Amino acid sequence: MIQETLLTDAAARAHHYLANIAQRAVFPDAAALTNLHKFDESLPDQPTNPAAVLALLDEFGSPATTTSAGPRYFGFVTGGTLPAALAANWLASAWDNNGSFIVQSPINAKLEAVALHWLVDLLGFPATTGGGFVTGATMANFTGLAAARHALLQSQGWDVEAQGLFGAPPLTVLVGEEVHVSVLKALSMLGLGRERVIRVAVDDQGRMRPDALPALDEKTILILQAGNVNTGACDPVGEFCTMARTAGTWVHVDGAFGLWAAAAPNRAHLVAGIAEADSWATDTHKWLNVSYDGGLVLCRHPEHLKAAMSANAAYLATGDAREPAQYTPEISRRARGIEIWAALRSLGRSGLADLIERNCQSATRFAEGLHAAGYEILNKVELNQVMVSFGDNATTQRVLAAVQQEGTCWSGGTTWRGRAAMRISVSSWATTPADVEQSLAAIIRVAQEHR
Ligand SMILES: Cc1ncc(COP(=O)(O)O)c(C=O)c1O
Repeated sequence: MIQETLLTDAAARAHHYLANIAQRAVFPDAAALTNLHKFDESLPDQPTNPAAVLALLDEFGSPATTTSAGPRYFGFVTGGTLPAALAANWLASAWDNNGSFIVQSPINAKLEAVALHWLVDLLGFPATTGGGFVTGATMANFTGLAAARHALLQSQGWDVEAQGLFGAPPLTVLVGEEVHVSVLKALSMLGLGRERVIRVAVDDQGRMRPDALPALDEKTILILQAGNVNTGACDPVGEFCTMARTAGTWVHVDGAFGLWAAAAPNRAHLVAGIAEADSWATDTHKWLNVSYDGGLVLCRHPEHLKAAMSANAAYLATGDAREPAQYTPEISRRARGIEIWAALRSLGRSGLADLIERNCQSATRFAEGLHAAGYEILNKVELNQVMVSFGDNATTQRVLAAVQQEGTCWSGGTTWRGRAAMRISVSSWATTPADVEQSLAAIIRVAQEHR
């Protein structure tokens, strides 16, 4: 009974939060941040009524959130949570199943397998593709590159999981000049080194240049990018995959958000040939609009992924069926396949394509509106990313801070080729054309005031 009252209260509070999210300031105000010190208390000696704990959390916690679930949050690459994904996440939280093995959560294992099957079909990947449900693209990059490391060293007669890297045949790692920092982090964690890489020159949008690629061989991992975090540009993956295939080079694609272009007919040309790669990393908490934390590693050769990630012990004995933990770094973990299934089940093929396309069109509208107002768009807007400069770097920084302060919408900043920029990323199902117009008007008004 207490539990029922508490969950009803939590649902009402969450509903109230989301129902008013479009009216909330996109970033907490000074009072909300100051009030965070209400949490600086000693651990109570005695238990507290859970209802009071929840009330405290809502009173001082909700105002100290960024409204990243709302329609006018354009910071980083942030997808809101789809209603079906959020509701499934709540139910799955109540189930509190460990997602690691079938015996611990038959439903999670089933829905992971179903979601994987749908995704592979949706993206046009080889039917044999396997995958693991990880926390985000950083871990998906790590896991995909672990599979690459395993496969290439195995073909050199070296068992890296058993013997480690000391004395192993050297592997070459090729990345673009615009490689995302998470890939370098993954390489450092894998013992492949963040500075031991060869950096390949890129074009003006940050795409790796095929003519700048060194000779490839079967001891090389080529890491491509679909969706540059600043420009949104995708490497010409098809061209690179063709070059790599004949050389026996492993191709890994960091497609944290750009991978989803493959699911939208009008954008799929940007990642043409992506199905020819060996492994792929993506986020589900970005463009699939599923709750944090969620990412996916996909691998053309699931046996290599499994070899790199499996850990066996007598008490973990398993059969022939796909066991979720055999494809991820974690053993115990959240059953995050459930909300991914729910997102896909509710969107369907056309709903996902529509989400991607709408966001891309909104990005184009931002670029057109800001350009028409006299501001410089620094990238070719083909996907969901827009970089705008409001003049010299100091002016741009001033406008950026003022837009963040004004509160209609929130965008982050970046530096592109020495130019300061506001970075607008449209990634949420909740963003409507009216939100874009409202945000554009606010940005332009603020920019004119801070010329
Ligand atoms: C291209 C790219 N790769 C990897 C990542 C890392 O993703 P996550 O923070 O979800 O691990 C990002 C995040 O923005 C990204 O844009």
